[in-house]
Amino acid sequence: MTATTTTGVPIDLRELGISFGDAEIVSEINLRVRPGEFVCLLGPSGCGKSTLLSAMAGFVKPSVGEIVCAGDEVAGGNPHAGMVFQSSEALFEWMTVSRNVSYGPRMNGANKAEQARIAAEYLAMVGLPHSGKKFPAQLSGGMRQRVQIARVLANQPSLVLMDEPFGALDAQTRQVLQIELDRIWRHTGCTVVFVTHDIDEALTLADRVVVMSAGPKAGIKSIYEVHAARPRDRADPGVIELYEQLRDDIRAEVVASLRNQGIEEEQL
Ligand SMILES: Nc1ncnc2c1ncn2[C@@H]1O[C@H](COP(=O)(O)OP(=O)(O)OP(=O)(O)O)[C@@H](O)[C@H]1O
Ligand SMILES: [Mg+2]
Repeated sequence: MTATTTTGVPIDLRELGISFGDAEIVSEINLRVRPGEFVCLLGPSGCGKSTLLSAMAGFVKPSVGEIVCAGDEVAGGNPHAGMVFQSSEALFEWMTVSRNVSYGPRMNGANKAEQARIAAEYLAMVGLPHSGKKFPAQLSGGMRQRVQIARVLANQPSLVLMDEPFGALDAQTRQVLQIELDRIWRHTGCTVVFVTHDIDEALTLADRVVVMSAGPKAGIKSIYEVHAARPRDRADPGVIELYEQLRDDIRAEVVASLRNQGIEEEQL
């Protein structure tokens, strides 16, 4: 692997509130993600995790408060950020894998030799050194997700925003990609905010796990620091204890969320 590194930037959510029309989705969110930190965001379905991530990317405008990334207020786009979506439908099907990966640098004026070098470097980084000439349709779901990650990393973002990037994959592929992501994150030094529903995934990857409360007006319910050494060992007593706390914490919010939707616990 080559020596490409990025300096992770901090991102600050200050008294943040986001509404769509009359519906207040999240409110009074205060969170500072440290430079180079890996933060996982968990919470019941519909509480506003994707909305929050989109706001960090500058796609959604805060209704109240502000988001500051590397000292600049995020408004109408965040030049420091790259976003990885749950579905790899975001790939350009008509381009080879290499051209998908070098798309950003090409748009920024990289010449052919630079594009080839970048595509080779990032495809190697995600474990696909021999797939550059293929088209996305010739790849499996896990391989497509690796290409998506390579395409985002090729822009050398100092903040990577990931919205359930492994959500659609089988458990084994997911585990492999988690281990690779952990390695890539340590290698590149970028800051990561990662949304997941999977507590094990959060405990494999995160420095801190942020649990959101049930919406509407969802906020931050609790924050857990994960001190266990990396790579994480699921059998570590500290990890087991955190798992149990997180499971109870999230279950309470899921029940609250369903109750807010008119579904009672005895019906579950
Ligand atoms: N563009 C939009 N316009 C109106 N309402 C929206 C919009 N985007 C999201 N919402 C609403 O905001 C709330 C939060 O949605 P969001 O997608 O952020 O939830 P989530 O926590 O990511 O859920 P999931 O875990 O299911 O992905 C939902 O009630 C959703 O209907
Ligand atoms: Mg979502």
